Amino acid sequence: MPANDNKSRSPGKRPPIETYAELDPEPRLLMGPGPVDVYPRVLRAMSVPLQGQFDPQFTGYMNQTMALYRHVFRTANEWTFVIDGSARAGIEACLVSLLEPGDRMLVPVFGRFGHLLVEIGQRIGADVVSIDADWGTVFDPAQVEAAIKQHRPKVVATCQGDTSTTMLQPLAGLGELCHRYGALLQVDATASLGGAALPADDWQIDAVTTGLQKCLGGPSGAAPITLSDAIARRIYRRRHIESGLRLADYQPGAGTRIGSNYMDLAMVMDYWSDAGLNHHTEATTMLYASRECARIAVQEGLVSMFARHALASQAVVAGVQRMGLQVYGDLAHKMPNVTGVVVPAGIAADRVRLALLKDFRIEIGTSFGPLHGKVWRIGAMGYNARSDCVLGTLAALEVVLAAEGHRFSRGAGVDAAYEVLKGG
Ligand SMILES: Cc1ncc(COP(=O)(O)O)c(C=O)c1O
Repeated sequence: MPANDNKSRSPGKRPPIETYAELDPEPRLLMGPGPVDVYPRVLRAMSVPLQGQFDPQFTGYMNQTMALYRHVFRTANEWTFVIDGSARAGIEACLVSLLEPGDRMLVPVFGRFGHLLVEIGQRIGADVVSIDADWGTVFDPAQVEAAIKQHRPKVVATCQGDTSTTMLQPLAGLGELCHRYGALLQVDATASLGGAALPADDWQIDAVTTGLQKCLGGPSGAAPITLSDAIARRIYRRRHIESGLRLADYQPGAGTRIGSNYMDLAMVMDYWSDAGLNHHTEATTMLYASRECARIAVQEGLVSMFARHALASQAVVAGVQRMGLQVYGDLAHKMPNVTGVVVPAGIAADRVRLALLKDFRIEIGTSFGPLHGKVWRIGAMGYNARSDCVLGTLAALEVVLAAEGHRFSRGAGVDAAYEVLKGG
């Protein structure tokens, strides 16, 4: 078991004085792969008074949130709502509510978060098959089609943007392909929604899940999702209501009872429906945050949001390249909100990150698994997809890299990014 070296555990021993101090976190600029700085408007929305979850004004806010996310997901799906929990709660809720033990799921894996889909499916007892793309690349649709033909899955689940590798899988046509072979398509858009186009209806995606903490510029802890009518029907077929809530005319649903109470989307749908059947106690503050994030996206307009992310990303790429650094992976399929930067030989990756944090209060990301220590990840997304954030981060990186002995033309990176941002 790992240790937690928390010195104030002994009973009766008073914890050190700072334990009682008011929270006063140092300012940071969060330029990693998420979370990012939260829009001030979202923080303000989170501080408005709480209401009871069945208060008609509050259920009105829930309905408005559903309507706002229909716009963000570009869908007419009735079942567009928010799961309480971080982004993986949305992913897991869909998969556990849909898949019965033994059902086959196909996962095209092109990074760590594809492995997460595999792992969740396996825990549900599904028959999971995966295909793998080399990290730093994406799939050709023909590879996915061949795997669907071979394995005949009930569900295909994949990421749009896998933050671990910074790759963005093209998804247009995949929904139609899945349906041709009788499979449903679930997409994890945690890291891409609001940063790259994902028209759920046009692309015939049955379930899309996301989180707030990336391009939507909110805190983690809420997972907006949308379900096509087809997938919602399949899930609702398995509806088994908790004993204490059943009415006299209750008929149990078909199939195996959904293997999680908290993540049981059939019950969560009842809760979000006009019937308002009790389930969990809504995370009111996170509902306010979710609503405000979507309101920002709708007010800015999705096309303008995508363009803002793309411009910030182009500036980061131009900047690091001009500093003599290599951008990780297939540039043609890079996410427009996170950039992987190959750590130059002889430079200590974590020391650079620490210096940025300590001396400039800027956070950039490390990488997972095989890429740890080899690739930094710089995110410019949500509230931070702005020229000042990009230029400040690159300027700080130049100073730290020069101090670490990396040889390049000082100022060139910031100049290159500035040119891009000014449209030059
Ligand atoms: C693509 C992707 N999927 C899923 C997750 C998991 O999200 P969470 O940590 O909010 O559960 C992340 C988080 O970084 C992610 O980038």
